[in-house]
Amino acid sequence: MNIIYAEDYADLSRKAANQIAAQVILKPESVLGLATGSSPLGTYRRLIELYDAGDVDFAACRAVNLDEYCGLSEQNDQSYAYFMRENLFRHINIRPENTHIPDGMNRDMEAECRRYEEIIASLGGIDLQLLGIGHNGHIGFNEPDSSFSRYTHCVELAKQTVDANSRFFAKREDVPTHAYTMGIGTIMAANKILLIASGEGKAHILLEMAAGPICPQVPASILQLHSDVTVIADKDALGLLMEKAPHLVTGAPVV
Ligand code: GLP
Repeated sequence: MNIIYAEDYADLSRKAANQIAAQVILKPESVLGLATGSSPLGTYRRLIELYDAGDVDFAACRAVNLDEYCGLSEQNDQSYAYFMRENLFRHINIRPENTHIPDGMNRDMEAECRRYEEIIASLGGIDLQLLGIGHNGHIGFNEPDSSFSRYTHCVELAKQTVDANSRFFAKREDVPTHAYTMGIGTIMAANKILLIASGEGKAHILLEMAAGPICPQVPASILQLHSDVTVIADKDALGLLMEKAPHLVTGAPVV
């Protein structure tokens, strides 16, 4: 795991966007695994700037998103489909038919999970998977559990996750309690993984993820076993790691 220091959110976003742009420049038909949440917003803004400047072309690129809330249609402004359209897809030249996300309105869970895994397989797998991280160590919506999930599945969201995500909804009772998510196995099968984290609130979980035991109670800890993981985090998120395991962090200023 290569953990790269960023000064702040803007620096993190620029570094993460550079990695994604490099992936697309080197392999225009890349399959990008994409994420939602507040962490990737700056990265997407920076990617749009790179696209506007003519530095990166998404015409041949394919995208598969990590997860989607159950019960929200793509027109719902809290759905992840809506988030991706508004914050990235409609600003770049990726073809809509090349963007994929679980269908939150499909009540046939088994069929939906199978359909999504088949899409990823038909694309030849994921070249670069972008991840945020939940405060409890979840990636995608893989919540702490007694075992690591393999494939795309439907999850009941942890109370902490519902609480954290309620900031985006008018009423707490509007926050979905279930979601479709790629499994840990789906994520681990990606060729490269790029995880981004910002702010002091993520410091504890970054330490557990990178330097703690690998266990399904901290889902992101399994990334220690992947051969090509880059973590880009700002100094606030890296606070505890720099204090307890500074040898794991690349690029921190020498004081
Ligand atoms: C949600 C998403 C995750 C994301 C997490 C953290 O639960 N399903 O993919 O990583 O939130 O979000 P944020 O980046 O807003 O802290």
